[in-house]
Amino acid sequence: MAGNGRQWSNLMHLAAAVVRMKVRAAMCGKHGENARTTSEQLLRRQGEGDYRVLANRKTTHPFWKIRPSVRYADLPLYMDGELQPQKQSKIPQLKTKKTGMSMLTKLLLTDLVSGVNYVPSNYIRPLSDRPNLTEVGKSEGSNLIPVIDLQGLSGPNHSDLITQIGLACQDHGFFQVKNHGVPEKMIENVLQIAREFFRLPESERLKNYSDDPSKTTRLSTSFNVKTEKVSNWRDFLRLHCYPLQNYVHEWPANPPSFREEVAEYCSSVRGLVLRLLGAISESLGLETDYIDNQLGNHGQHMAMNYYPPCPEPELTYGLPGHTDPNLITILLQDDVPGLQVLHNGKWVAVNPIPNTFIINIGDQMQVISNDRYKSVLHRAVVNSDKERISIPTFYCPSPDALIGPAPELIDDEDNRPAVYRKFTYQEFYDKFWNRGLATECCLDMFKA
Ligand code: OGA
Ligand code: NI
Repeated sequence: MAGNGRQWSNLMHLAAAVVRMKVRAAMCGKHGENARTTSEQLLRRQGEGDYRVLANRKTTHPFWKIRPSVRYADLPLYMDGELQPQKQSKIPQLKTKKTGMSMLTKLLLTDLVSGVNYVPSNYIRPLSDRPNLTEVGKSEGSNLIPVIDLQGLSGPNHSDLITQIGLACQDHGFFQVKNHGVPEKMIENVLQIAREFFRLPESERLKNYSDDPSKTTRLSTSFNVKTEKVSNWRDFLRLHCYPLQNYVHEWPANPPSFREEVAEYCSSVRGLVLRLLGAISESLGLETDYIDNQLGNHGQHMAMNYYPPCPEPELTYGLPGHTDPNLITILLQDDVPGLQVLHNGKWVAVNPIPNTFIINIGDQMQVISNDRYKSVLHRAVVNSDKERISIPTFYCPSPDALIGPAPELIDDEDNRPAVYRKFTYQEFYDKFWNRGLATECCLDMFKA
């Protein structure tokens, strides 16, 4: 009798739960659709980027008590640094209904996207922070971001070019260069090798995986998986490249020509950076080697950014708005648009021009120039059609280099006091990585 009573009570609970399910489905206007859709709709409507809020709400909801088919995005993911890769064996192997794929074991976006036709909730930005792609201007035609021909830098046009570079750094924080001296073939090769790297089998790529930003060679995803709340639609391989002999043996051994091709590219880009640093120093009225001399044993890092096609590009970023923490960045992009720069309060697309590099002023240059040159917000958006590759080279001071405004650019009597205090690059870099990509400027923490 007692057994029958329990069965009866279980049956009643089940019936009540089914009613709740139906009410819930009806409230969401998608009768019959599964819970995944319901949670996606909530996020899309309310613009909640932090999936953990949703996870808490769901796990306490009666619906989840009777049907615990939790999907991966509702659990604390190791992508968010909460569960470490070595603990993977303890993670339940959940299957998505659509694909039957085991999603929890995917460390990289590249391997996750092949099985989804929606943006998982941990990639969805809040409504107030989405790309608004229809409102973006184009730099093509109107040439909002100046294109500078470096051909004449060591000829009779020298001073004209210095003026152009100075104006671009001041008004845009960005410019593009052609006839820069890096051979076309080398550019083609490095883009091709990056493409091949991201097409390697997952197991081969994962040999390079790490979520530790202090590692000098690593493949990772998003931005900083240990600290961020919302993920970015990007995988990246990051390499230290100077001095080459200290790092090249750590680089991926696959594709087989990776080390050779990338090393050649890095050396050639270094030559371009040195010429640009001379020109920028001169444009500030400083000795040609002033900036180079401030850097100590400078560093050169490179990222190979891989942005897979995204089913819902309006909901997420490849990289959200940020400034670069280093001195200067030399960006190579393939032929797929995605880079946008903030200019006069508006986002402007910098569409690809073949064989052209995009140069941008980083935070350290803003400091050295005592705010004359600006480290400008930029971001990468994604698209639903094509994968995109970009290869930024980040040139940076040595960790112990003391950075501060150039004394010649400080004049207490002329209303140009030092805007920043002196600090080591190490101090700056640690703060940058710990706080994550945020549109408020990290430089504010170093004001005089
Ligand atoms: C970066 C960056 C832009 C791009 O890696 O810092 O701004 O277009 N990349 O990938
Ligand atoms: Ni950047």
